[in-house]
Amino acid sequence: MPNRDHWSSSLGFVLAAAGSAIGLGNLWKFPYITYHNDGGAFVLVYLGCILVVGLPIMIAEIMIGRKAQTSPVGAMRSVVGRAWAPVGGLGVLSGFVLLGFYSLVAGWSLRSFVQCLGWSFGGFDPAVDLGADFGAMASNGGLQAFLGLLFMGLTTAVVAGGVKNGIERVARILLPVLFGILAVLLINSFRMSGSGEALRFIFEPDFGRLQGRGILEALGHAFFTLSLGMGAMITYGSYMSKRDSIVKAAGVVVLLDTLIALFATIIMFTVIFSQPGMREQIGKSTAGMLFITLPSLFYTGVPLGNVLAPLFYMLVAFAALTSTVSLLEVVVSYFIDEHGVSRLRASLLCGIAIYGLTILCGISLGSVDGISNFEIFEGKAGLFNTLDHLVANWLLPVGGLLTTLAAGWFIPKAVSRAELLDRDTRFFHYGAWSFFVRFVSPLAVGTILFFVIFKGADFS
Ligand code: TRP
Repeated sequence: MPNRDHWSSSLGFVLAAAGSAIGLGNLWKFPYITYHNDGGAFVLVYLGCILVVGLPIMIAEIMIGRKAQTSPVGAMRSVVGRAWAPVGGLGVLSGFVLLGFYSLVAGWSLRSFVQCLGWSFGGFDPAVDLGADFGAMASNGGLQAFLGLLFMGLTTAVVAGGVKNGIERVARILLPVLFGILAVLLINSFRMSGSGEALRFIFEPDFGRLQGRGILEALGHAFFTLSLGMGAMITYGSYMSKRDSIVKAAGVVVLLDTLIALFATIIMFTVIFSQPGMREQIGKSTAGMLFITLPSLFYTGVPLGNVLAPLFYMLVAFAALTSTVSLLEVVVSYFIDEHGVSRLRASLLCGIAIYGLTILCGISLGSVDGISNFEIFEGKAGLFNTLDHLVANWLLPVGGLLTTLAAGWFIPKAVSRAELLDRDTRFFHYGAWSFFVRFVSPLAVGTILFFVIFKGADFS
């Protein structure tokens, strides 16, 4: 397709794809599941999952997209076979649903940013009950709809701008800022008293404390954090030029995503462990760590907290935006490539439709009764929790399993060889990759699904 919009360079792809991967998963989810699973050994298992399952599937997805030069539905159809088009369709559906509630959490980061700015200038009152404050925000349907609107509006504007002038440009600006803020926070955290304990918690493995559930959680999160299993990397890969090295780009994206998750966790745990008693207290509300515990700790225990707290929430919002953009792009690219809709029209219509779902999720956190209470999956009350569970436990693993099977068993070896082997792949062993996508990844993902179906496990 000669007129297809492409990244301006290999770096353009890497930044956009890293922007997709680095998101709330790194800053919100990873720290609290690490906490939950007692650190050390869990982190090691997670790193193993990233290397053994995540990287090979990331390479497979980019390869399918780059070869096809079209969105996931057409890509699966043309590279793998007619019968595989619905797998791409499943990805589009997953993107739609995931963005519906992800944009809401992303909106909370904007709210925390504004709240922190207020404290930085107006002074922080240590007596306020931030838990109650957060609860009140969650159950305020109007506020949820407003925050979601802000975020979906921003996301839609970026995607409407196009691949090079929208998505890549935003990633080029936001990602370096994000790395810069993170570096400042990281350096600052090494001056704080809790940093030693934080590092030991994260990096000292104690396998006696690792549970089976933790291993599966690590595997599920490897998918989520690398944006795999729903065609996002297929879509971004489809804007990649034939000159660029897939393996090298995938390696850099995976490395960046992993480093950012680890750095964010070090920073957050240092802040928490630096205050006496916090480590025990947080045990009860790990999910609220990012939005409830951290804001107050920044103002009561972090040197320069006044400056760093707003910066930190700006970082969260930036990370979230480059992820929501890629979620919307999966849906939008489907309508552009499969139905010939213009980019502007597709972005607006998809943006509005998904925002409809965002509103529904926003009022399902307590503000409207029926939609907040129904229970399809045990213990997951309300639309927000139901969709979160559906995506993390079902849609992404199923999508990932089918993608790895497609890449390993149904794409001719000549095709994958031609796509993957280039002058930059001296360290890449094709046979090893092939072994991983054929046997290791399907077995690993199949195990997740087995536990979800037969043992009622939960990864959301
Ligand atoms: N990787 C994102 C994060 O860590 C979340 C995510 C999952 C995602 N699947 C995606 C983002 C697909 C974009 C596209 O927050």
